Amino acid sequence: MAELPCVVVADPIDAAALDRLRAGPCRVVDASADPRSLDGALSDAWALIVRSRTKVTSSLLAKAPKLSLVARAGVGVDNIDLPAARARGIRVVNAPAAATASVAELAIALYLLLVRGLYTQIAATKAGRWDRGTHGGELSGRTVGFVGYGRIAREIARRLGPFGARTIAYDPFVTAAVDATELLPFEEVLARSDVVSVHAALTESNRHLLNAEAFARMKRGAYLVNVARGALVDEAALASALDSGHLGGAALDVLEVEPPVTPTLLARPNVIVTPHTGASTAEAQRRAGVDTVDEVLRAVRGEPLTSLVAGEGGPR
Ligand code: MLT
Repeated sequence: MAELPCVVVADPIDAAALDRLRAGPCRVVDASADPRSLDGALSDAWALIVRSRTKVTSSLLAKAPKLSLVARAGVGVDNIDLPAARARGIRVVNAPAAATASVAELAIALYLLLVRGLYTQIAATKAGRWDRGTHGGELSGRTVGFVGYGRIAREIARRLGPFGARTIAYDPFVTAAVDATELLPFEEVLARSDVVSVHAALTESNRHLLNAEAFARMKRGAYLVNVARGALVDEAALASALDSGHLGGAALDVLEVEPPVTPTLLARPNVIVTPHTGASTAEAQRRAGVDTVDEVLRAVRGEPLTSLVAGEGGPR
């Protein structure tokens, strides 16, 4: 009888999704609780499931001679060496839609906290002050500018309609309008937005896309929100733009290094930092686990894949 393909789970995924995987025609090795057990498990791995903790480098791939598939239980694949996977003919899949609603809700919550000045009011009230003065403004009538206009930004734009906010976007890969959001050059999005919201995938070419020059182009008092990848923002330049009073505040769910948080940013009253929590809701994690497991099971059964990031999708 042929041996069942070995699926190694390197990072924790939703428990029900793991059970679903275990019920499939494969042998599951769960190395998620003890990362030190991963190296030993890789020698037999046919498929590898990761979130973002495990860095799928070329040296990790070298430890997995039988590997055919890397499945990312999330959207971003910047923790996977795609050229190295391609060179080995290893397919890479992700769960592109699992976290869309959760990240969209987080982004809108952060816009409201910033524009309304709620974070300072919460802190002041907890510190014993009862300040009923005028604070902040409304999202209604303000312009939210997206840097990157993929699935998540489009979902945010759709949800911002009822808030009465205007939406504009820059995305070098989107050339024709897909909805009511106006597509503009990068500089114009920066110059016209009250809130600049970052949603690009991190690549070799867009590290520190939001740098001193970009902040200087933003409106005085505007806000920056980043729920994509920390390295898209130059944190030192952001700190300077906040120090000078040019920017009104920032909300960062992602950081250049996670953790620790740059102490100078953390100490600022007008910076909100959350622990890369965009996709960390029960619903998003359930979907990410199930979507990923279903894709792995399709691969195990030799069926066509639906979310290929790299490699060929046909049965093998
Ligand atoms: C993603 O890319 O899916 C999110 O950043 C969340 C995660 O890394 O798990």
